[in-house]
Amino acid sequence: MQKRTLIQAALVAAALAGTGAAMAQDAFKIGLILPMTGPQASTGRQIEAAARLYMAQNGDTVAGRKVQLIIKDDVATPDQTRRHAQDLIVNDKVNVIAGFGVTPAALAAAPLATQSKTPLVVMAAATSSITEASPYIVRSSFTLPQASVALADWVPKNGIKTVVTLVSDYGPGLDAEKFFKDRFTFNGGKVVESLRVPMRNPDFAPFLQKVRDLKPDALFVFVPSGAGSAVMKQFLERGMDKAGIKLIGTGDVTDDDQLNDMGDGALGVVTAHHYSADHNSAMNKKFVDAFGKANKGMRPNFMAVGGYDGMHIIYQALKATQGKGNGDQLLAAMKGQIFESPRGKIFIDAQTRDIVQDIYLRKVEKKNGQLYNVEFDVIKDVKDPGKTK
Ligand code: PHB
Repeated sequence: MQKRTLIQAALVAAALAGTGAAMAQDAFKIGLILPMTGPQASTGRQIEAAARLYMAQNGDTVAGRKVQLIIKDDVATPDQTRRHAQDLIVNDKVNVIAGFGVTPAALAAAPLATQSKTPLVVMAAATSSITEASPYIVRSSFTLPQASVALADWVPKNGIKTVVTLVSDYGPGLDAEKFFKDRFTFNGGKVVESLRVPMRNPDFAPFLQKVRDLKPDALFVFVPSGAGSAVMKQFLERGMDKAGIKLIGTGDVTDDDQLNDMGDGALGVVTAHHYSADHNSAMNKKFVDAFGKANKGMRPNFMAVGGYDGMHIIYQALKATQGKGNGDQLLAAMKGQIFESPRGKIFIDAQTRDIVQDIYLRKVEKKNGQLYNVEFDVIKDVKDPGKTK
């Protein structure tokens, strides 16, 4: 308890130090907490690359303040996230914490953001309730209900009447399962079974065998970014597609970071999501091109876009507060921002601090010898369906 009191005192002191005392010449520090190693490392790699690209394109001095990124690897484990967040706030005196590759990481840092009045920008994690964990949280990624509801509206209109759901057994998976099922059922479809796989080291084989036996029209999948190719591989190895079972899901499963290596078996897979590297806009073409040039041809995925836009939100807040804003003032300047992202127009809802964005239906197709999620329909300005208020 005593240790906890000391930590709280240090966090409050950090908050007070930030109040109006920022000297124009001090660096503006962004603590980026990301999984740089472990199973979620692709998320860290993508977001770091995007944040660095944003800074290279927009300069590293904003409103007279030099912007400094401090990157910490939390291996997507909440204990490490908490420790890094505390260290960044108390010792490095960062102005903003950002990143958060998985939901448990974002939730672990939330109380520290509240106590120290430090804005926390969620660039990756996507469980609906995260933004309710602290009034200092702003999200630049997406929510699973946004993508799942859009897909559940498309599916029954396209000949799919029965579905088995298969999700990672934690926040975003449970959101995907619930919001897909509720909407699909409302639309007259039937979820015949809901399967959950462990978040860590999942073995999909026994679950896929079960799906084969149940023989639904389609298998709906949510797995976190980085796990999609394992699902795809086993789905094809078991000949599920040949057995007439369609693979559908949120776009996490046909993640642009891995899609091109999944092979032609991925062709035709329909998903709903907020970003495809193939998105047809001048801004996105420029983004994909610059991202590739700066990173040995790497293709940006939806995590990269969350990182790029999160940096934009922070830069705009720093500008709006003329380089002098404390945590509360920066937070106020983040709320209500509207701008064009490589994914399309986005909006930070001032009430919920969550992102409002277009959700696209996409199908995996080959273009110039490469696999892409090709967008074929759009639902405009989707708020998080998971918000109760
Ligand atoms: C999450 O943990 O919130 C999460 C991680 C990866 C995703 C989506 C959600 O692709």
